[in-house]
Amino acid sequence: MTIAALARPEVRFLRPYQSASACEFAIKLNANESPLATGTDTAQGLNRYPARRPSSLVKRMADHYGVEANNILVTRGSSEGIDLMIRTFCCAGRDSVLLTPPVFDMYRLYASIQGARIIEVPLREETRFAIDTDTLLAACEDNTKLIFLCSPNNPLGNVVPGKSILEILQARANRSIVVLDEAYIEFSDSESMASLISRYDNLVILRTLSKARALAGARCGAVIASAELIPLLDGILAPYALSSLVIDSAELALSDEQLALSTRAVRTTINERERLRLELIACDAVSCVWPSQANFLLVRFRCIDTVSVCLGNAGIAIRIYGDDISMQNCARITVSLKADNDRLISAIRSLD
Ligand SMILES: Cc1ncc(COP(=O)(O)O)c(C=O)c1O
Repeated sequence: MTIAALARPEVRFLRPYQSASACEFAIKLNANESPLATGTDTAQGLNRYPARRPSSLVKRMADHYGVEANNILVTRGSSEGIDLMIRTFCCAGRDSVLLTPPVFDMYRLYASIQGARIIEVPLREETRFAIDTDTLLAACEDNTKLIFLCSPNNPLGNVVPGKSILEILQARANRSIVVLDEAYIEFSDSESMASLISRYDNLVILRTLSKARALAGARCGAVIASAELIPLLDGILAPYALSSLVIDSAELALSDEQLALSTRAVRTTINERERLRLELIACDAVSCVWPSQANFLLVRFRCIDTVSVCLGNAGIAIRIYGDDISMQNCARITVSLKADNDRLISAIRSLD
């Protein structure tokens, strides 16, 4: 069996959309575009449709992530990668996805929209929120198509050990795809697992330019997968997913100069994260700050309501986790510039 056989039959037998921009003739009378490049300040104007899949950006992203161009699909942020995976593989009411809460909530959102069933294998504080592979594998069902792993985890900040990922990949070969979300990997000590896609056809990796590459506003990310899966995902991605403006800004962000700048900014964030962690631990209002491999910290306060009022008065927004019982009194705090971090610390210290 090939891994593509796990996809929904409708997707496997989809007839690809014939894209007008694929033609390279000088006079284009085939896409009902305006011939006038007016009203924009971009060099080439915006009157023409962008390339359906912009090859120079695909190549740049593939090089950046260390894979081949046929192993990558450029998407509108990695959020779209999550949605594409679920829509490609999950039949409503029949197939399931496995999640390990507390974890990024968008997996649940898109699974619910698609009508996929959700299997939860909660991570426990007593075991430092580590994934127990035996429990996870025992929870898988015949129709569990996708296992979402987030490393570093949002909101926990911890990484999933490579050994656990390999164990899951091997145990679920030909049955489930492991979707490894590496949105924050640049802030961690770990390497991306992208090089493993040639060995494991059931491994799919999500990357984004939104975090370390400072491009959240552009909406650009990537799905990295075996060359067999990419055309299936491509088939359900909107034909002109990326605007010309996004393509230009993503290419710029991946230039040597901009990459050097953003890499330096990542190092600064990591230093600030460690400083902020120590400062927060020293505050009376704080009961725990978990170690983090991302650009945020998960903090447990003695009383989240007091903190929420105090920070609200100081004009500082943090992400409070109210609904999940294991996350009571917890909040996720993004590591920002030193001045912002200092304001946060002094607001929390004012509660001592
Ligand atoms: C773990 C994780 N994955 C994916 C995303 C989506 O990011 P984007 O769609 O901006 O690439 C986020 C955003 O916060 C995230 O935290």
